[in-house]
Amino acid sequence: MPTAYITRRERFCAAHRLFNPEFSEEQNAAIYGECSNEHWHGHNFELLVTVHGDINPQIGYVVNLKTISQIIKERVISKLDHRNLNVDVDFMQGKIPSTENLAVAIWAQLDAPIKALGVKLHCVRVQETENNYVEYFGD
Ligand code: NI
Repeated sequence: MPTAYITRRERFCAAHRLFNPEFSEEQNAAIYGECSNEHWHGHNFELLVTVHGDINPQIGYVVNLKTISQIIKERVISKLDHRNLNVDVDFMQGKIPSTENLAVAIWAQLDAPIKALGVKLHCVRVQETENNYVEYFGD
């Protein structure tokens, strides 16, 4: 049976500040530059979620992307959109809100409910800017 990788894109806007409280102000500034500015900055993020599975021969889908979209909105977008990633988001508490850490945390939010559909979460891609994105494959 052929398999395919299918991807749903969602978007959210959020604020953050890259900062490790264990470092001095000078160290934070040296590591993170402007991203460490005290009073936050924001991004228009894109989130691309790719799942992998068999193509159902009777339907022609791996899985209905509308269902994937609903899971992403409920488990991720509703918690991130128009929020501050350092302060407001339960699944980012205690983490430096880098794009890497965000991708790993989003994976943890999505893995079980996507598995429950009988398909496999393959990649979480978080696009922070036009030029920068992170892909996480679950390891
Ligand atoms: Ni930033």
